[in-house]
Amino acid sequence: MNQLQLFLPCAAGVEDYLAPEVLRITGLPPGCITKQRGGVAVRTSLAQAMLLNLHSRLAQRVLVLLSYTEYRGEQDLYRAASEVAWERWFTPRESIKVEITAQHSPLTSLNFAALKIKDAVCDRFRAVAHGVRPDVNTQWPDVRIYAHLTTDTCSLYIDTSGEPLFKRGWREDKGDAPLKETLAAAMLAASGWFDGDADLLPLYDPCCGSGTIVIEAAQMACNIAAGSRRRFAFEKYVPFQKQVWDSIKKEALDAEVVRSPEQKPIIFGSDVAHRMVDFAQRNAARAGVADVIEFRGGDALQRLPPIDVSTTGGGVMVLNPPYGERIDVGGVAKGAPRDAGSFEDEPNVPRFGARELPHTEGAGEFFNQLASHWKKNYSGWTAWVLTPDLKLPGKMRLKESRRVPMWNGPIECRLFRFDMVAGKMGSDHRDVKSASDHRDVKSGSDHREQSDRVL
Ligand SMILES: C[S@@+](CC[C@H](N)C(=O)[O-])C[C@H]1O[C@@H](n2cnc3c(N)ncnc32)[C@H](O)[C@@H]1O
Repeated sequence: MNQLQLFLPCAAGVEDYLAPEVLRITGLPPGCITKQRGGVAVRTSLAQAMLLNLHSRLAQRVLVLLSYTEYRGEQDLYRAASEVAWERWFTPRESIKVEITAQHSPLTSLNFAALKIKDAVCDRFRAVAHGVRPDVNTQWPDVRIYAHLTTDTCSLYIDTSGEPLFKRGWREDKGDAPLKETLAAAMLAASGWFDGDADLLPLYDPCCGSGTIVIEAAQMACNIAAGSRRRFAFEKYVPFQKQVWDSIKKEALDAEVVRSPEQKPIIFGSDVAHRMVDFAQRNAARAGVADVIEFRGGDALQRLPPIDVSTTGGGVMVLNPPYGERIDVGGVAKGAPRDAGSFEDEPNVPRFGARELPHTEGAGEFFNQLASHWKKNYSGWTAWVLTPDLKLPGKMRLKESRRVPMWNGPIECRLFRFDMVAGKMGSDHRDVKSASDHRDVKSGSDHREQSDRVL
């Protein structure tokens, strides 16, 4: 188990951040990893696979490649799966689930293809384990097997993670539109807020909901491993060595940074819904960072900066504000006059892909007012805003200095950066720092293709 080929899938657009994260966690030289569309491949050991499960904030899973073959039909898939020594990984007492993804596969039924692979795994166990075969459990399997098909190749993986890695084990309370923890971590990675340096800038999410962004940030600041509050599928596998895992976990625990009580928090979250603030507080406690974040209730259109940044060298806001199709706007803008149609008014508006979205009631007014509020009161701050609306900067009359494509599940988004430069505030967007680095990292169409193959 010392030379495994791992594949860590991630959301489209996140590969550029995942690759350095894998190098940082494993300590491997850059030559050991390959950045691919929708993930990162790395050749390394099972112990490193455990380490990646424990520490990665950006990967969706850690998969081990067990077979890579050419195929033409279902029978070839059956043969490929029969040749894998599954018994080296798990026993027939464990339940299994086969999941399949495909890109330009000529097969007519992926369900049938998955069935053939499942049959091959069970038949192999019958042959090597005296007639005993694993059961199938589609909801809570012990073992997930992934097949990825291209036009003519089949890759078979065993998953070492179990539940997807965005499930960190601390978010039991959530609102209507919670952000996946992996996406919150990707936003933070793109913002460059955390670079391992002790001198962190204040961080604030004024629409914090269940607290995902600020809790991820606080765990990063305290060096708390992302997976320290959950279990993993590999703990049930045949090659699992408890003493190796225990020492990996102990090392992570010993490396956690304990804050002294007199240190003031530099991470802040607020939300107009007091229920959400309660949720966020409870989640932060479970994540071990309750003392590191200061939560408040309040309208983002009225709250003043939670800290004076004139001496800190600036502050960073990271947020996914409410947006039409996901969640309604609360606070003072809620009662604002309707300025454009809603989805109900326009049933033909496409559901997916970044675009100019029609506003829901109050949403246009909300962003208008938010921009004015920031221009007036948030000089010295940089705001990173995740939105599916490509035209948001125009609507806010702010010029973005960066735009990073990211996918929020099936929704294509942009993470916009706005710089509120001290001494240059005004009502006109020309007063705000103009784009120095105006770019789309990759084209949107490319990313839709990538998301199709994310496992
Ligand atoms: C898309 S959700 C954010 C989700 C959050 N990132 C999470 O992971 O749970 C938007 C949040 O904005 C809040 N919100 C709506 N209007 C607001 C306002 N005027 N001021 C502050 N928060 C507001 C909602 O209560 C909701 O929690």
